[in-house]
Amino acid sequence: MTPASERFDWTVSPGGKPAGQVRVPGDKSISHRSVMLGSLATGRTDVTGFLDGEDCLCTMKAFQAMGVSIERLSDTSLRVDGVGLHGLTAPAHDLDLGNSGTSMRLMSGLLAAQKFPSTLVGDASLSRRPMRRVIDPLARMGAHIDSQDGKAPLHIRPVAGLQGIAHASKVASAQVKSCILLAGLYAQGETSVTEPEASRDHTERMLQAFGVQLEASHGRAALRGGQQLVGTAIPVPADISSAAFFMLAAAIVPGSEIVLRDVGINPTRTGVIDILRAMGAEIELLDPRTFGGEPVSDIRVRGRGLRGIAVDPALVASAIDEFPAVFVAAACAEGETLISGAEELRVKESDRIQTMVDGLVSLGIDAVATPDGARIRGGQLRGGEINSHGDHRVAMSFAMGALRSSGPIRILDVANVNTSFPRFAEKAQAMGLAIAPHRAT
Ligand code: S3P
Repeated sequence: MTPASERFDWTVSPGGKPAGQVRVPGDKSISHRSVMLGSLATGRTDVTGFLDGEDCLCTMKAFQAMGVSIERLSDTSLRVDGVGLHGLTAPAHDLDLGNSGTSMRLMSGLLAAQKFPSTLVGDASLSRRPMRRVIDPLARMGAHIDSQDGKAPLHIRPVAGLQGIAHASKVASAQVKSCILLAGLYAQGETSVTEPEASRDHTERMLQAFGVQLEASHGRAALRGGQQLVGTAIPVPADISSAAFFMLAAAIVPGSEIVLRDVGINPTRTGVIDILRAMGAEIELLDPRTFGGEPVSDIRVRGRGLRGIAVDPALVASAIDEFPAVFVAAACAEGETLISGAEELRVKESDRIQTMVDGLVSLGIDAVATPDGARIRGGQLRGGEINSHGDHRVAMSFAMGALRSSGPIRILDVANVNTSFPRFAEKAQAMGLAIAPHRAT
């Protein structure tokens, strides 16, 4: 795997008609949680379809550093021998969580309850991201976390115990919700989280699969502390957030047709399907089934030409990671697309509103950033150079844009694609994208 420190670029030549079947890698959110909950359970958890991207490997290494035996049976199969809620041991060094916001926010919840201290560090991007949203509610539960003005590194001090709280989160964030629920497993009494829109509910589903009693309804989750998790088998669906780049590819090229295999279609994640359908893409869900507690289907996408829309702000939470793809779809659509209510995009791996608007403008598209979204007028993408700012999803979205550009698009700084989508270039090439990876010169 490419170390994230080496700089890599892609040159993507214009044209191509997406065709064939693709199985994108495992779901990132579910993969992280399988390691975390498997580690805290008693007994064995076998994970299949695990995402072997750098983010999830950071989580895996962090739990190994805290004494959990995690065996890699293959690139995508893990065997986790859980140590129980109170079995983690003090790590000998700082826990390096790389680029992964999910690792840092979820782990801060469960580490805040331990009898040993820990320090969580990340790369430059992760060290810029807001952590007060987890530090403050954890402090109300009795945790002690020192930060650099609300940012990583996070120094977590040992505590005797935590107290359950009712947390009303201002943002719809599964990372915040999950952090508090994981701390709640260790707390006295009930811990609950409410949020303005329902964020992804993988933690709630997986906790239930591990035998935890929990109340979950739209926008609220609650559990009582002290419940023991019991190891189980976790089959991980393909990641809809990775599949989204291929949906985009087929959607922007009239006459194309692809089938994506085994994609997780948890209703808290399917906003991108609703948005692309509203723009005119033909998307069919084939053979719906479940993997563990998660709904899955194959997805057929046919390109029919897209039109601009006002994206329903109610879809923002369920499409939060897919907006880079939506920005490129908007650039390839007829007419104007308006995105609003999406200010959270500014605190992702990059400021995704600015990074995407700057990239589209440099490719000749009329696009304007607003505080909580953007206005994008569809047009002819021309060739050019894109700075992905080390943001994996920005890089993959612009790569697909080359299917509709008049000249080659060079995308700088793509090594971080390995955080969520190892072997992206090979899969995109097999689908029909003329993508050439090279070491930066
Ligand atoms: C994630 C939650 C989302 C998402 C991230 C993964 C998770 O973040 O953007 O890629 O696994 O819980 P927020 O909770 O900050 O919205």
